Amino acid sequence: MKIARFTQLGFILAAAGSAVGLGNIWKFPYIAGENGGGAFVLVYLLTVLVIGFTVMIAEMLIGYMGRLDAVGAFEKLAPDNKGKWKFAGFMGFTGLLILTFYSVVIGWIFHYIVITVTSLPTSVKEAEASFGQLLTVDIGTQLFYHTLAFLIITSIVVRGIKSGIEKMNYILMPMLILILAGMFLYAVNLDAFSKAWEFMFVPDWSKIDSEAMVTAVGHAFFTLSLGMASILTYSASLPKEINLKKTSLIVVGLDTGIALVAGLMLFTFLFEYGAEPSKGPGLVFISLPVVFYEMGGVGTLLSLLFFVGLAFAGLTSAVSLLEPMVQYVIDRFGLSRIRAAFLAGSFFYIIGIFMLLANTDEFGAALSFGGKNLFDWIDFLTASVMLPLGGLLMALFVGFVMPRTQIRAGLKDAMSERGFALWYLSLRYIVPPALIIVMLNMLGMISFDLIMPMFIVAYMITGIIAYGHHISGAKN
Ligand code: PHE
Repeated sequence: MKIARFTQLGFILAAAGSAVGLGNIWKFPYIAGENGGGAFVLVYLLTVLVIGFTVMIAEMLIGYMGRLDAVGAFEKLAPDNKGKWKFAGFMGFTGLLILTFYSVVIGWIFHYIVITVTSLPTSVKEAEASFGQLLTVDIGTQLFYHTLAFLIITSIVVRGIKSGIEKMNYILMPMLILILAGMFLYAVNLDAFSKAWEFMFVPDWSKIDSEAMVTAVGHAFFTLSLGMASILTYSASLPKEINLKKTSLIVVGLDTGIALVAGLMLFTFLFEYGAEPSKGPGLVFISLPVVFYEMGGVGTLLSLLFFVGLAFAGLTSAVSLLEPMVQYVIDRFGLSRIRAAFLAGSFFYIIGIFMLLANTDEFGAALSFGGKNLFDWIDFLTASVMLPLGGLLMALFVGFVMPRTQIRAGLKDAMSERGFALWYLSLRYIVPPALIIVMLNMLGMISFDLIMPMFIVAYMITGIIAYGHHISGAKN
């Protein structure tokens, strides 16, 4: 099958566009706020570097060497009789599940672009009331914007990798970076910047617990778009000559840099006007609009830039959530791209309607079970269970199933022998135990108190195994 290829810059922008999303600008600041700031940020950075970066290279490698949709790539790269691995490719489905709520949240952002122009809330009370009203009562408004998000996302995917996804990222990503840079410069000059800096980078270790650590791992996957074949599917269209390590490093660097910039900027604005950092998901929809209102004229401009930038970030991620299933349906069932896109698109659109209804007063009770509503369930299941599981499968596949020589060949120019050995070690012995422990915890099978001891035991065991391999490998 002939696939249109990205240019090198096009790929970097598209992969960064996928990674930089609501996770960076909406979710990261509020979970950092909820978990006390500095210490959490440090754990998150460490996870991104050790686990995220390692898995990013592995995921890119599967796509780059497979040159097919996710299912096809696993099938093709698994040595004989391991055809079952093709089922790992179905992790692409996670993207459709994420999209069911992602599209609804993009809808909220559209609504806040309009609110900026019409009337920003003048007090926290008013802001809480209007956000609450949107979520719990205003079905029509949410439905309208969810539909708009669905139409935009799907019509871009319909145009394909080159004239849809690559082109969109060529335009929106530079604009997003400019918007954030401009707003950041403004924030740096405010008095509260140093307080925000301290909040983000001076760790208070008493605030960190196992729960925060587990949240950090889950978020690292979500924010880097790992574990559900977005990066894999894009990588099937990589240009032939590309350095996977460098490319991963740039994408991880951009994603992390933008999350930190967004966090610093938001906390500066919030602290400047005495708002609370630990407001949860409502942070950018409740606290922030009030701060923008208090800033006066410049606040309206900042608010407009902020929500437009957030919409750009969300849309460039959303297309990457849809593309894996679309590519799969095209490859497997020979459907035209337009049909495949609308088929996969209608899935997230329709389930998305139930998602938004789950937050409403009218239907909330009917769409809740086990102490969570449908919206929170899907958010939890995808980010906390399915993405780490997808990441684990990729690490195991590249680390233990694909022959070492084949992997080394795929990365021949990208890494020195030593660099390769280090990455391979991390993929085999550091990433899997960490992900298994985190997933067991997420599923409630081990308590938070046990996490630390389990980490220690797991790493002692894998250390011994790795050392054994090293010795036996050194012999031949
Ligand atoms: N990385 C995106 C964000 O931070 C979300 C995403 C997850 C996109 C998984 C693709 C795959 O918002």
